[in-house]
Amino acid sequence: MKKKILICGAGGFIGGHLASRFLKENKYDLVCADVKPKEYWFQIFDEAENHSLDLKEYENTSKVTKNVDYIFNFACNMGGMGFIENNKAECMLSVLVNTNLLRSAVKNSCKKYFFSSSACVYNGSKQNQTFISGLKETDAYPADPEDGYGWEKLFSERMCRHFNEDFGIDTRVVRYHNIYGPLGTFDGGREKAPAALCRKIILAKKNNFKEIDVWGDGEQTRSFLYIDDCIQGTLDVFNSNSNEVFNVGSEEQVSINQMIEIIEDIANYKVNKNYQIDKPKGVRGRSSDNSFIQKQIGWKHTHTLKEGLIKTYNWINNQIESGTNISKFSKSTIEK
Ligand code: GDD
Repeated sequence: MKKKILICGAGGFIGGHLASRFLKENKYDLVCADVKPKEYWFQIFDEAENHSLDLKEYENTSKVTKNVDYIFNFACNMGGMGFIENNKAECMLSVLVNTNLLRSAVKNSCKKYFFSSSACVYNGSKQNQTFISGLKETDAYPADPEDGYGWEKLFSERMCRHFNEDFGIDTRVVRYHNIYGPLGTFDGGREKAPAALCRKIILAKKNNFKEIDVWGDGEQTRSFLYIDDCIQGTLDVFNSNSNEVFNVGSEEQVSINQMIEIIEDIANYKVNKNYQIDKPKGVRGRSSDNSFIQKQIGWKHTHTLKEGLIKTYNWINNQIESGTNISKFSKSTIEK
C-alpha cells in the first residue's frame, strides 16, 4: 500500500511545486490542503484529494490528518517585505496552523512532520551590514528574529523540537532563504524582490518606461534560491535521519542593484532606478551558509541566480503577455 502524504499550503508556491514533484514520482497517495478557495490555488491536481479549509482550526487539522503517514506544513500567511512588515499579527496567527497540525499529528499517529521555517528567524544584529558572511544555523540565537513573522517561525521551530522530545513525533525543519521561480506571486503586495523586479522591468520594456521604483538604496544584499533547488533540499532533508534545523538557501549573495543588472541583461533593456527609501527594507544583508547541510545531508544548490532568473523572467513575461491567470498570482490578501 502507498504511504499517504498531506501537503498543507498546497495551493501556494512551494507546496504546489512539491505536490507536482510527488505526483510525477507516483510513489505516494497525496492529500492537499489550503485555506484559499480552489480556483486560487497556484497549482491543483485532480489526482490528489484536495481540501479548501482553514488549518488554523483544530477541527480541520484533525480531520485532514486522519490516516496520513507524513505531513508537510507550508501553510502560513506570508509574502515579501512589503507584506510581512505591514501584517505582523496576521503572520503570527500562523502559529495556530503549526500548533493544531502538531496536536493532530500526535492524535492521529502520523509518523513524520516537516515544518518550513525561514531565514527571518536569524538574529537581526548579525544582518546589519551588506555582504555579510553566510548565516549559520547557530546564528538564530540569542533570539532577535524579524518582528512578527520571524518570531512565529522561531517559536514554531521550537514547538517541533519539543513535540519530538516529548511525544516522539519525527520532525524535520528547514529555514528557506528567499525562494523564487515560476508559478509564484509576482504582483499585488505579497511578491518578493526577484519577481517584483522582473515584473517592473518587463512592464518598463513593454511600455517604454525609462525608470523603475526600487525599495531602499539598492545596496542591501540577499541570496535567492531557485524553486527546483528548494524542492530537492526539502526532500533531501525530509528523507534524511536528522531532526536538526537546516538552511535551505543559496550562497550567491548579491545586492538588489546587482540583481537588477542581471534582469536588465535578460530583458536586454536598461532602466534608471528611483530609490524609495521609505519602503519596507528588512535587514541590511543576508545570505546562507550551507556548510552544515552539505556535510550532514549532502545537498547543495545547482542553479546560478542568472539561470533561475531567466526562467522566472520568461514565465512572468508569458503571464503578462497572455493576461491569463494573473489574479491568482497577484492577489494581495486572503479573505478572512
Ligand atoms: N518585495 C520587494 N519589491 N522588495 C524590493 C523591491 C520591490 O519592488 N525593491 C527592492 N526591494 C528590496 C526590499 O526592500 C528588501 O530589502 C529586499 O529587496 C528583499 O525583499 P523581499 O524579497 O521582499 O524580502 P526579504 O528577502 O527581506 O525577506 C523575504 O525572504 C525571507 C526568507 O529569506 C520574505 O519573503 C520573508 O517572508 C522570508 O522569510
